[in-house]
Amino acid sequence: MANLWILLAVVAVQAALYRPCESLWCNCTTAQCEKNGSRCETDGACMASTSAIDGQEQHIRICITRDNLVPPGQPFYCLGAEGLLNIHCCYTDYCNSIDLKVPSVTTPSGLGGGWGLVELVAVIAGPLFLLCLLLLVGLFLYQYHQRAYNHRQRLEVEDPSCDHLYLAKDRTLQDLIYDLSTSGSGSGLPLFVQRTVARTIVLQEIIGKGRFGEVWRGRWRGGDVAVKIFSSREERSWFREAEIYQTIMLRHENILGFIAADNKDNGTWTQLWLVSDYHEHGSLFDYLNHYSVTTEVMIKLALSAASGLAHLHMEILGTQGKPGIAHRDLKSKNILVKKNLNCAIADLGLAVRHDSASDTIDIAPNQRVGTKRYMAPEVLDETINMRHFDSFKCADIYALGLVYWEIARRCNSGGIHEEYQLPYYDLVPSDPSIEEMRKVVCDQKLRPNIPNWWQSYEALRVMGKIMRECWYANGAARLTALRIKKTLSQLSIQEDIKV
Ligand SMILES: Nc1ncnc2c1ncn2[C@@H]1O[C@H](COP(=O)(O)OP(=O)(O)O)[C@@H](O)[C@H]1O
Ligand SMILES: [Mg+2]
Repeated sequence: MANLWILLAVVAVQAALYRPCESLWCNCTTAQCEKNGSRCETDGACMASTSAIDGQEQHIRICITRDNLVPPGQPFYCLGAEGLLNIHCCYTDYCNSIDLKVPSVTTPSGLGGGWGLVELVAVIAGPLFLLCLLLLVGLFLYQYHQRAYNHRQRLEVEDPSCDHLYLAKDRTLQDLIYDLSTSGSGSGLPLFVQRTVARTIVLQEIIGKGRFGEVWRGRWRGGDVAVKIFSSREERSWFREAEIYQTIMLRHENILGFIAADNKDNGTWTQLWLVSDYHEHGSLFDYLNHYSVTTEVMIKLALSAASGLAHLHMEILGTQGKPGIAHRDLKSKNILVKKNLNCAIADLGLAVRHDSASDTIDIAPNQRVGTKRYMAPEVLDETINMRHFDSFKCADIYALGLVYWEIARRCNSGGIHEEYQLPYYDLVPSDPSIEEMRKVVCDQKLRPNIPNWWQSYEALRVMGKIMRECWYANGAARLTALRIKKTLSQLSIQEDIKV
């Protein structure tokens, strides 16, 4: 635009000042020409052009001096300039009086064969417009997805229509646990309730440390809960343990009561929680370290542990049935003592489930997991038949026998009891290697000592007999959890013990 006016001004000034030698007359539309009858005289050429400024068609007719007809043959003034279209230079009197039309968009313009304004606009704005359109569509789709995702999250976490059934303000932990044990699903609370519960727990203090992380006491609605916190690296262990605890029909008074699993992403790392019932006595290991036990308590502890293990091992058929489960890390640190001095089997992280239909195990089991001190001889020497699910149950029974030995040593009979000791305390160092254990258990075929004086007390005699039958080198010859449970039930009746 500015170029056009400069061009017109230059031409007009020259038209006014210049006196040509061989002149010709041209039509002229500039203001200066008006007093000259809208014509001008020049020694160069007449020029006519149309312009389409602001969408309005205008005709421009001017004189061009010879000096300005450079370069010869294709003078600059006769070429296109911004805003000028369809330029025509000619060299006879009034030859620029011809009528010029603004070229249509589709025909090539007079701008020296280049792009016309409309084309340029179309070429630049078209792709830009398309790009914007694509961006808008992308943005819309992204927002739509986000909204749908948030909506789903809200439904999962705090859908009031479902939450109120479980989590009305006045409902306590006891109510929740009652719901759990009576709920039809048989596998625990709905996931969104689990999450809501987990996210409203206030952690209080560390109560234990194990393989994967810390165990905390937490408070929820006036009640205590235990929170096992896994590090992000242990996500697979967290998932596996939560999965096992949510096995249909697993709930049992002698298996740690599972409440919730939650994976909370705080932006930097993921906190992995397993929430369960809290037992203030802690593990059986802790309990036996602190207290000796009466015959009654010994039988209660032993019978409840056998009941828990029998339930874990048992396969229940039917749609509401449960698969057989082997623990694979049974020991006094993984058994909790409840207020009523019954046991609850905990730490199911290494457990395996049996699918009896296909006679397969639900994960590929590695040969030697668990705690070396409690490993059965066939696990230590790797002769265990891992294709056979019952092998894992037999290995659990061996470990249960060791736990019974730990309990029985603490039994107060006739005023005598022994100090707490771990099994094989006198035969291997602390934190023994597999090799050290194998030498003692497989090669020397040694087992924890059963003192003779136990024979004098019926309860200890029965316990001693059970232990021996749990420790056979041949796994298949060992007692089953159910058999142990029955024997101890009889003993408790005999001893007039209320369990
Ligand atoms: N529900 C609970 N109540 C009280 N103490 C617990 C509870 N769960 C675990 N503990 C304590 O934390 C310890 C470690 O817990 P555990 O589940 O065995 O974790 P890990 O898999 O790390 O071994 C237990 O030996 C016990 O002392
Ligand atoms: Mg443990």
